[in-house]
Amino acid sequence: MARRKLVAGNWKMNGSRAALTELDAIAQAAATRPGVDVAVALPATLIAPAAERAPALSIGAEDVHAADHGAHTGCISAAMVKEAGARFSIVGHSERRADQGETDADVKAKAEALHRHGLHAIVCVGETLDEREAGHAEAVVTAQIAGSLPDGASGDWCSIAYEPVWAIGTGRTPTADDVAAMHGAIRAKLRELIGGEADRLRILYGGSVTPDNARELLHVADVDGALVGGASLTAAKFVPVIAAAR
Ligand code: PGA
Repeated sequence: MARRKLVAGNWKMNGSRAALTELDAIAQAAATRPGVDVAVALPATLIAPAAERAPALSIGAEDVHAADHGAHTGCISAAMVKEAGARFSIVGHSERRADQGETDADVKAKAEALHRHGLHAIVCVGETLDEREAGHAEAVVTAQIAGSLPDGASGDWCSIAYEPVWAIGTGRTPTADDVAAMHGAIRAKLRELIGGEADRLRILYGGSVTPDNARELLHVADVDGALVGGASLTAAKFVPVIAAAR
């Protein structure tokens, strides 16, 4: 079945109000490519000014807390990022799984919180280099899918991002065949979990996507878009990635 491609940027802990000028050309590129969904996940402090500056662009958060409110100093809820102008959030990025010790159950609860507030969830999964070299990549990733997929997951509000940890920010990428095999395995696991709805969820590839490799990666079977870190920080690099999705 045909799924619209989604190209999502992830600025991580980078950027500033001044850097939001980059969104102007990104929004323009999105407007001229109605067949591709374009989104940018930003540090929480930049969500409101970005949503104001680029109202046509889908602006999102990089994480939310699973609870709606309460005694969680330093955390931000789905309702809060929504009020700031976010339409989605990434959850379970490998940097948070590693740095903050987030578990599959945490990630699932965060995705469900997003759904409660009408926001889209991009649920991240991916194996480490040791896991790949030991031949366990598919087992690790499909187990993450089983543990992290929110209840009632639907293509209307949930996407998956497959990001091999060893490909993030390293300039290394898996081969097209390896990406096809993993995305196929993820799709098969989703079918096992949610039946026919599995064909409506988008599965993005992430990890060192650049203008040079985007066309190849974005046209691998079962790749429905990209989650882009470093190359999303400037329009000069992100716009060609968006263009490659067509
Ligand atoms: P990268 O990051 O494109 O800089 O490798 C991707 C990500 O972590 O989402």
